[in-house]
Amino acid sequence: ATNRTFTMIKPDAVAEGNSGAIIKMIEEAGFRIVAIKKTLLTKERAGEFYAVHAERPFYGELCDYMSSGPIIPMILEKENAVLDFRTLIGATNPAQAAEGTIRKVFAKSVQANAIHGSDSDENAAIEGFFFFAGVEQF
Ligand code: CMP
Repeated sequence: ATNRTFTMIKPDAVAEGNSGAIIKMIEEAGFRIVAIKKTLLTKERAGEFYAVHAERPFYGELCDYMSSGPIIPMILEKENAVLDFRTLIGATNPAQAAEGTIRKVFAKSVQANAIHGSDSDENAAIEGFFFFAGVEQF
């Protein structure tokens, strides 16, 4: 079925001017952009977004990094969106990302890995509403 996922282009990729190339790869893979903006997370809001990782050793650094510069959050739509998008972005660790994936091309490290992708339909909806009101999702 056609459904939605949530993504954000992370500070490293935005700062390096890779957002256009990344959005091109996303659209060429058949995803339709439902919502998009450029914004800046505070450390507190980054912590809220990644609250599920609060007990991980990398949580503090992750919140610093995700609030270090502007990000580009998006809601995307496609058949089988969540799983197909995770395939398109590749493994969290770029050293393990497959050829042709977004992280293989643009990620710098396991932390500065260029892009986020939701891991379930439920989280896609929660994460989408974290950034976009219902009237901004079309
Ligand atoms: P993301 O898919 O957005 O979900 C959680 C993020 O935490 C992940 O991408 C990375 O940016 C970061 N992350 C995951 N594992 C590690 C790790 N071992 N060390 C540092 N950062 C990590």
